[in-house]
Amino acid sequence: MFKHILITGGAGFIGSHIAMRAREVWKNCEVTAFDNLSRRGSELNVPRLNAADVRFVKGDIRTVSHLDKVGHFDVLIDCAAEPSVHAGASGSPREVIDINLTGSINTFEKAREHGATVLFLSTSRVYPIPALNGVAFEEQETRFALSKRQDMPGVSGQGIAEEFTLTGPRSFYGATKLAAELLLQEYAFNYGLPVLINRCGLVAGPWQMGRVDQGIIAYWLAGYLYDKPLCYTGFDGLGKQIRDVLHVEDLCDLVVLQLQDSERWKGDIYNVGGGLENAVSIRELNRMCSEISGRQPGISEKPDTSPLDVRMYVSDNTRVSARYGWAPSTDVKTTVSSLYTWFDTHKDTLAPIFG
Ligand SMILES: NC(=O)c1ccc[n+]([C@@H]2O[C@H](COP(=O)([O-])OP(=O)(O)OC[C@H]3O[C@@H](n4cnc5c(N)ncnc54)[C@H](O)[C@@H]3O)[C@@H](O)[C@H]2O)c1
Repeated sequence: MFKHILITGGAGFIGSHIAMRAREVWKNCEVTAFDNLSRRGSELNVPRLNAADVRFVKGDIRTVSHLDKVGHFDVLIDCAAEPSVHAGASGSPREVIDINLTGSINTFEKAREHGATVLFLSTSRVYPIPALNGVAFEEQETRFALSKRQDMPGVSGQGIAEEFTLTGPRSFYGATKLAAELLLQEYAFNYGLPVLINRCGLVAGPWQMGRVDQGIIAYWLAGYLYDKPLCYTGFDGLGKQIRDVLHVEDLCDLVVLQLQDSERWKGDIYNVGGGLENAVSIRELNRMCSEISGRQPGISEKPDTSPLDVRMYVSDNTRVSARYGWAPSTDVKTTVSSLYTWFDTHKDTLAPIFG
């Protein structure tokens, strides 16, 4: 069906999973992973990509001539980013803007030249922080929970839907991703490129090189396995913030379904996440890590809240489920277990990254 799928950020966590899945599904199609390997640990994915018969091209999306090395492609899956919500918060935001916005424009331009279909991995962080923190909530024993009654449009007891407000500050990360979304919709409108945008919540699974500022599930479990200090930070240091967790293989299932009807894409936007059933607080995540690993390290508490943190985020998957008949199939505990098995199997290889 496709001749050549290009995945930028293809050696990253999500990009490498999608690349290998695309290789399995579209056997006669060339699959290229393009990445500058700036994310620590992404270099570990290069031999895996090679073994899976995915072509790897080292390059930077900020440099147009690097993208020229890829050759003709008919599908672009944009997974290259500086994905930290803290990027640019202290010092200059130039780098995050250059990568997430200028770099994305470079790849969109290549897509325009080749008349390619574009799937953009965006983020729930396009929704403004003050508005998200204004969502009505209840405080329960181990978590904050969405109130069933909500007054703002685009939020319900099921979570945040695509109609949620876009007015307000959201971090340089969120702003650059939203700006890229807006421009991409212009590419769809002006040049007729088939375009689809997934606003993902928290995605987790093996081969995620989690850091304190991005990839919290892998980061937290690694704290257990490599004896690193862990801390409940913000919102009074209670660890009650919640996120919905989506296993990366569930996201790959969706991407395959979506690509199968790409002729019908018209700049469509979907919130995509683990949903209410897979929402977990850090406190609850901590208990799972303890049960799975059999360990119980001390957790410190820092009550002060970063202006970039949000109390709750849960994706309302109603639109994407209705369109694609898709729903996440992996529960949070299974996701954490899959990470535990990965750490256990690759402990020495992963020690320089997490140790
Ligand atoms: N993981 C999540 O929970 C999550 C949630 C929402 C959205 N997303 C989005 O999904 C996409 C993939 O995220 P991820 O979790 O796989 O992150 P990741 O950091 O693992 O992957 C991003 C990859 O992009 C590469 N990269 C960065 N700058 C580059 C550049 N200038 N040129 C070429 N390559 C570059 C990195 O080396 C890395 O391998 C991102 O666009 C992110 O915004 C991720």
